[in-house]
This record gives sequence, C-alpha cells and structure tokens, in this order.
Amino acid sequence: MQLNKKTIVWIYTDDKDHQIVSYTLENLNCDGYILKVAHSYNFSLESKDLNIFYLTKSNSDLLNNIINVERKNFNNSVFVINDYNAHLAIQLSKEGITNIFALPHDKKKFLTYIKNKLEDYRINPVSRFSFVDQREYVFSSIMGSSPTSIAMINLAKKVSKSDSTNILILGETGTGKGLLAKAIHDYANENDEPFVDVICTAIPENLLESELFGYSKGSFTGAKADKPGLFELANGGTIFLDEIGDLSLEIQAKLLRVVEKKVLRRIGGVKDIPVNLRIISATNRNLEELVKKNLFRSDLFYRLNIITLKIPPLRERGDDILHLTEHFVTDYSKKLNIPIHKIEKDLLLFLIKYSWPGNIRELRNAVERAVVMSENNILKLKYFESLLNLESTISMNSALSDFVPSDTVRLDIKYDETDLRSINKFYVRKLLAKLEGNKSRTSKVLGITRPTLDKLLN
Ligand SMILES: Nc1ncnc2c1ncn2[C@@H]1O[C@H](COP(=O)(O)OP(=O)(O)OP(=O)(O)O)[C@@H](O)[C@H]1O
Ligand SMILES: [Mg+2]
Repeated sequence: MQLNKKTIVWIYTDDKDHQIVSYTLENLNCDGYILKVAHSYNFSLESKDLNIFYLTKSNSDLLNNIINVERKNFNNSVFVINDYNAHLAIQLSKEGITNIFALPHDKKKFLTYIKNKLEDYRINPVSRFSFVDQREYVFSSIMGSSPTSIAMINLAKKVSKSDSTNILILGETGTGKGLLAKAIHDYANENDEPFVDVICTAIPENLLESELFGYSKGSFTGAKADKPGLFELANGGTIFLDEIGDLSLEIQAKLLRVVEKKVLRRIGGVKDIPVNLRIISATNRNLEELVKKNLFRSDLFYRLNIITLKIPPLRERGDDILHLTEHFVTDYSKKLNIPIHKIEKDLLLFLIKYSWPGNIRELRNAVERAVVMSENNILKLKYFESLLNLESTISMNSALSDFVPSDTVRLDIKYDETDLRSINKFYVRKLLAKLEGNKSRTSKVLGITRPTLDKLLN
C-alpha cells in the first residue's frame, strides 16, 4: 500500500491514557501515516489531516469545543469512546455526528474505517465512506448500561427485524414502554412506514371500535362518508396499542379477528380488508392475572405476546440509575443553560436507594427540578427533598399497612415536611397502586381526565 507519507493522524483526547486508541492503531499494519497525540482541546477541521477524537468525559472542554463548532464538517474526523460510555455517543449523535466507534467492541469496524480512510486520502481527500450503520442510533435515545437493559435492547433489535412479529411490552408506569415501541418500529422500517400510536384508554369505549376499524358511509347516523380506522392507517407499518390491559372483552373479540386472520371489516362494511402490520401492545397491568380472572381473553393474550419484552422497574436496574441521571443532568443543564459540574456523593447514594415508583419519568422530572434549583453548579441531595419526604412516608405507611381496610387509602404524612403538591401526588400514586395500576379506574375515582392523571403522576 502506498500511502501519502504526509498524512497525519491526530488523536485529540481528554484523557492522558489513550492507549486503547494508539494500541488499536498499531494493528493497522501500515506505516504510511504519522500518528500524533494532542492533549489540547483546540483543533482545526480545516487541515487535510485525519482527526481522531477520543472522548471519555461528558463535560470536557474538548467535547464542548466539538459541540460548539459552527458548521460541523467532520468528514475527516472519527470519534472514539469506550464501550461503557454510550451516553457520549448519544451526546455526539444529537449533534449530527455519526462516525462514532466504541472500543474495544467496535475495534474491527474502527480499523476497517481508518484503513479505508487512509486509502481514501491517497485517492480523494474527501471521504466517500460511511461505515456506521445509521440505524444503530435509533435506539440511542434509550439509555441503559446494565446487563438487563443491554440484553433487552439486543432482543428488541433482533425481533424488530423479524417480519411483523407481534410484541408485548410489559413494565410499570414510566419505564419507557412507549419509547421502546417507537424505537422498534424505527429500527425495522427504513422508508417512513406508518407508526400509529393508540392509547386505548384515551378513546371513549363507544367510539373505540369505529376509531380502530373505521366505518362505511351510512352505517350509522352521522356516518356521511367512508372512514378508514387506525388499523388501516397503520397498514404496512406498526400499530402500537398502549394500555391494552384496559380493553373491554367486546373490543378484544374484534381485535382477535384482525390478529388471527389479518383482515378487518369496517363497521357497516361488507367486505374484508386485508391488513399487514406489526402489533406492538403494552400495559403496566398484570395481563396473566387478568387472563386468570377472565378479564382478558387468553387466545388474544397468546397471539399478542409472541415476544414479550419486560422492562424492569428503575429500582432494579442497578447502574442504569446513575447512567440515566448523568444523561438527564447533561440534557437539562444544556437545555436550561445551567452547567452542572458536580453531583454530591450523598445524592448518588440516595438515587440508588430510592424506590422510584414513577420510574424513569420520575427521575427525569426530579433531575429537571434539581437542575433549575441548583446553585454554584452543584447538584445536591436537598434539591430532591420532595422525594425524600415521600419516601419516609411510604416506608412508614408500609409498616402500618396491615391495618388498612381494603376500601381505604391510608396516608401518613409528616405535616411539617410535606407540601400540598407532594400530598396530591402521593395520594394519586397510592390509589393507582390500590387499583392495580388501572389508570382509567383511578381517573374515574378521582373525577379527573386521563391526561390530568398523567400530569399528576409526572
Ligand atoms: N431508557 C430510557 N432512556 C432515556 N429516557 C427514558 C428511558 N426510558 C424512559 N425514558 C423517558 O421516561 C419517560 C417515560 O417513558 P414512557 O412514556 O415511554 O414510559 P411508559 O412506560 O410508556 O409509561 P406509562 O405506562 O405511564 O405510559 C419519557 O420521557 C421517556 O423519554
Ligand atoms: Mg406509555
């Protein structure tokens, strides 16, 4: 291989220990380039040199300079992170940067990329190569580094590739069911196929059938023209049936027909319309339990859960708590323009120990509030105090729970520590738990709409 002797490969790094990159480059087995390491955070994108940015921190000056480059022309640049620093990949991809490699996992891909890049310099100084699978980044908004999360994401990627397999996503409120459903769809569909998101409980029962399956002109007063239903609109893509556990048995029977026969009939229609789509359904309720109680059809259950993806609650996700915290801190400090340089140790301990009943949604909101309240760029435990009050009340409550009659929600609240807003939230959560996660019943009991309930849970 005859390489241009003058090609310089720069490694810009925020870490003195950059051996993982330099050692990997030794495997290139070609000596046509000069390797230089720069510990400076100033770089030039104008030169024809090849730049490798090796990033290990999410708030380094080097990263900030990369983010602040105005017209991002990173054609001659490659970004390297460590396997466990997936959050950096997300930060970079948000900036539109895609040629990112995680070492050691991507070692082979990285070497091929560099090799071709150097070869490319000989022929044409502007890159013709794009080796990184863009679709890998579809899942990049789903953060998680714990083994459970990685296994779940890998399974989701795998099943998304198999043609229209129905998928059931289970998990408590706020665990990311909606996010996962959309990622599965985007990963499997390259050409803008439709994704129709139906929150089953948000549509009144008497309208649900016509919304889902459509109607023919004249089938009832007011049906002035033919109207396709959501299933038809989703044809060729995905229909996401959220909160499936709350569907009435009547609608379940109609759904079964579509799932089994892949045809539907509009209300008042005379012909069957074939549909070819993937059904992703989700619920925070215990479907198996509902099947046992004859509240959910077992035949439908078995057809919908060809593959089940169970998202564990945040409190069981170990490393993910800190990883997600870091992600939300970075995100909100950027959005709100309030830099955070330090997180108190006590706070980290609390975050790991807290039970997170509202899961990732609760963590995200708590971090946002704390970033807003922060002083001197430090995130402190005291900004999470409203959760702390809630927690002490929860543990006190569970100690006393033996004496609570079944139709009663008991609140034991320290009056000098808990504000009204927290009490509202706490009551709503307790009631939701009492009603086995059934959001429609909860909002009915509270006399509020579903969106208001969701707001209160946030
Ligand atoms: N792994 C994750 N990484 C980053 N953000 C996440 C992750 N999981 C969830 N979130 C965020 O948490 C919030 C709640 O997620 P989502 O609405 O998907 O939860 P859900 O399980 O559908 O909740 P519900 O049962 O209440 O509908 C969203 O803002 C989402 O972006
Ligand atoms: Mg949801």
